[in-house]
Amino acid sequence: MPLDALKGQAIRLFRERFGAEPTSVGFGPGRVEILGNHTDYNGGFVLPVALDRAVAVAGAPLAGGRIELTSALFEGIETAQVGQFKRNEKTNWVNYPLGTLKMLAEAGAPVGGMRFAVASTVPLGSGLSSSAALEVATAQLALTLYPFAIEKMALARVCQRAENEFVGMNCGILDQFSSIFGERNAALFLDCQSLEHRAIPIGDDDVAVVVANSMTKHELISGGYNRIRQECMEAAEMLGKLRGRPATLLREITMEDLQKHETALPERLRKRAHHVLTENQRVLDGVAALERGDLRTLGRLMFESHASSRDYYGNSTPELDCLVDLAKNAPGVIGAKLSGGGFGGCSVSLIRRSQADAFIAHIKKGFQERIGLETEIHLCAIGAGAHAEKV
Ligand code: GLA
Repeated sequence: MPLDALKGQAIRLFRERFGAEPTSVGFGPGRVEILGNHTDYNGGFVLPVALDRAVAVAGAPLAGGRIELTSALFEGIETAQVGQFKRNEKTNWVNYPLGTLKMLAEAGAPVGGMRFAVASTVPLGSGLSSSAALEVATAQLALTLYPFAIEKMALARVCQRAENEFVGMNCGILDQFSSIFGERNAALFLDCQSLEHRAIPIGDDDVAVVVANSMTKHELISGGYNRIRQECMEAAEMLGKLRGRPATLLREITMEDLQKHETALPERLRKRAHHVLTENQRVLDGVAALERGDLRTLGRLMFESHASSRDYYGNSTPELDCLVDLAKNAPGVIGAKLSGGGFGGCSVSLIRRSQADAFIAHIKKGFQERIGLETEIHLCAIGAGAHAEKV
């Protein structure tokens, strides 16, 4: 569904549920990582793209600091009060917008009462970061209803804090950064330590993104995520001690440090460190490849990234491996890997748009034969970043 149709859906939902007119709509796109799996919270490099799938939030101001929220995906209207933001233990989806409003207010924004209605073309829970898209769309709407000047990176941080401190998911900045900084037909490079970033045009119109759902969750994403994140911090600390110069993030560890001291690390930690250090290098190599228009190398790096996530990071699953393996021999493939947290969720493939039908048919058939399930596939374009529009 194009963004205009999504905007219309959010506006209609607002009218139906509130019997009133919205004044603005905020948009936040979903994202996939092309390279840089689990490097963000290690202070490393990432290379994501925003998608032409987004969350749209239609809203209008409401007096008395009262907040009323509703979503196309859920029944009813939830309420809250500015200045008294509390986690909603019963209706989890509202914690993403409420957390965002709370963190925006803490950053100094004059957040007031509002009604808002959420519509989305980002599939839920499949690894396209519908949660960050909702946070970012909420922030765009709030900043339009109650204007406040804030830099884009500071806004990404605000949305990340909503997720870390209010929702309780200890993610890095990748998802919120991608949703805010997205550019049509460009990949986004970010150094998660210095926060230096730039957009790199894909420079080839015949490129599309295919997202395929692995249809199986093997571990609660937050459980596996937090465990592996912790292992990375332990690896950084141990390697810092071993080399005689403290480190808190794997970004501060060099490949020479790792090679010199890896035998002193428990195997699990050695593998996590190996993935993060080599993945950071793959991001840099991928950026260089993209800059010289070498999609072939970018694609090869994506397959290598997947193998590293699978063998060293332990966040792949047989279903994700199957999707990536099928992509290797599919018509029009450029590259494929798992995207996001892992332990289930989606694979991302860069493909030739002109061969999309044949590519998708190949994956669907193979997944059905090998896994016995029907995979859900989304053919996407690389879309623009977050913004807001008046109604
Ligand atoms: C999830 C998190 C991100 C990032 C990815 C893995 O999407 O929300 O911060 O860590 O996993 O790259």
